Amino acid sequence: MSTVPQNSKMKPARLTIRDLSARKVSAGAAPMVWLTAYSAPTARAMDPHVDVILVGDSLGMTVYGMDSTLTVTLDMMIAHGQAVVRASENACVIVDMPFGSYQASPVDAYKSAARVMAETGCAAVKMEGGAEMAETIRFLLERGIPVVGHVGLTPQSVNRFGGYRAQGRTTVEAKKIMADAKAVADAGAFAVVIEKTLEPLARAITAALPVPTIGIGASPACDGQVLVVDDVIGVFDLFKPKFVKRYAEVGAAMRKAVAAYAAEVRAGTFPTLEHCFTDSPKKPVSKKAAKKPSRK
Ligand code: KIV
Repeated sequence: MSTVPQNSKMKPARLTIRDLSARKVSAGAAPMVWLTAYSAPTARAMDPHVDVILVGDSLGMTVYGMDSTLTVTLDMMIAHGQAVVRASENACVIVDMPFGSYQASPVDAYKSAARVMAETGCAAVKMEGGAEMAETIRFLLERGIPVVGHVGLTPQSVNRFGGYRAQGRTTVEAKKIMADAKAVADAGAFAVVIEKTLEPLARAITAALPVPTIGIGASPACDGQVLVVDDVIGVFDLFKPKFVKRYAEVGAAMRKAVAAYAAEVRAGTFPTLEHCFTDSPKKPVSKKAAKKPSRK
């Protein structure tokens, strides 16, 4: 049996790493749209609209209420990656490598990334870091695992940075970030996320790299943009970073809906008979029908 798909009736193909790696704005491409998702319903809602769904380790904060990404585990990333891959069919899905799963050695990184790829079905992994990660990126790529780099503010290094302030404010810092971006691209990263740097630096990196840059708090000149979905739809509304634009107030809508539900249950106005099963069964339910999953 051939392992090459031959059947034209197969599901529409997802965007591939090859499609994405060619998308430089300087070569005439439209800016790419990346957005994080951690769950099936969110992935399903964004799938027709985005090029890449990133299962970011930001889920530590947005989903699990942790105060940094340092306590996120490989098993968490795999579980959320599976949900997102299952619920999408067009976007390319990329999963973040969590802290401690890839930094120690290329072999460690390969073992962790291979689990992520095999258990989720995602197309690539993202890892934070600059020149120090170049050898690992090359090692993974040579063994069939595409990698996205991530430079600038790398949240897994929050303890080294001493906070989440914008990076590249001094010439030394800016030169290092530029060198890091070039090192990960030279090592074979097919795209590089630039997070929270001064704008001219992100612009210069975008001009210098042959692969697309994806900005978050970086520059409109980047080849694509990424944000955390909870910020975009206003679910995470404890604070709003300067680089976030909110396109909806889902957090407020959620509080309003829950308050209305609670009030109706307490007042005895929900449920009504409309929400109850009042017909007496006409036929005995067959074993087959009883097995079907249903939310009704
Ligand atoms: O974890 C994350 O969400 C990220 C960002 C780049 C969006 O890495």
